[in-house]
Order: sequence, then C-alpha cells, then structure tokens
Amino acid sequence: MGAVHPRVLGFLGRALSLELSAVQQYMTQAALLEQWGQSEWADRLRRETVEEMKHAERIVQRMLRLGVAPAASQLLPAETASDLEGLLRHDAVLEELLIHHYGEAVRFCVLIADGESEAFFRELWNEEREHGEELQRWQRELVGPSHLEDRARF
Ligand SMILES: [Fe+2]
Ligand SMILES: [Fe+2]
Repeated sequence: MGAVHPRVLGFLGRALSLELSAVQQYMTQAALLEQWGQSEWADRLRRETVEEMKHAERIVQRMLRLGVAPAASQLLPAETASDLEGLLRHDAVLEELLIHHYGEAVRFCVLIADGESEAFFRELWNEEREHGEELQRWQRELVGPSHLEDRARF
C-alpha cells in the first residue's frame, strides 16, 4: 500500500475520538436508564455501545494497517438528561457529528482519488446514517401516535 495522505490519517484520528465518545455516551446513558429501572431501554443503548465499539475497532485496525498508532484524545463529555427523550436528543446530535465527519472524509478521499480509504469511510458513513434513522424512529415511537394526531388537527 502506498503512502496515505496525512489528512486521511487526520480523518481517521478524529473518527476514533468521535466513536469512542459515542461509546462513552451510550454506556453512560445505558447505566442511567438502568438506574431509572428502564432495563429494556438500557439494553437497547448497550447494543449501541457495542456497535460503536466495533466501529472504533475497525478504525484501530485500519490505522495499524497504515502503520500509525491510534492516539485518540479529547473525548466529548457524555451528555445526560432527565428522561429518555432528552437522552435521544443528545444522541441525535452526536450521530449527526459522525455522519458529517464521514461525509467530509468520503468527499476528501474522492478528491484525492484514494479509493480504498473512500470505501472504508463510506461504509461507516452508511452505518451512521442508519443509526441516525433508527434514533429518529425511536424518538417517534416515544412521542406516540396520539401526539401525532394532535398535530394533524392543525
Ligand atoms: Fe459509530
Ligand atoms: Fe452511531
């Protein structure tokens, strides 16, 4: 494999920080939900934690293949709230950050014609967009159909 553009390494490093921030946030929120006695929702966020951990692992593997040592720093603080709806609003913001980051990474790789890195980031981009949609579905479930009917009257 030829030398990779330093900015691609930059995108990888920032991606690792964001994914580890997501691990920290989902782990924290799962623990909160558990404390509130909402075990099912806690499990759902634990599964998210594992997904984000697998993303972080893929990035670590890619960095090692490129010959650089992972060195994530500056995790974002885990965002908390007083109920699940509040937690999910924070999660939507974090997923949006990830989606934006991978979108930028893909565009840059296209620009420099680094097809292998492009494919790597594109896969993560797609998965984070799925996460974003999943979160929106969950938020809609919480709001419930009665609320939607209220809205439809106006
Ligand atoms: Fe992720
Ligand atoms: Fe995600």
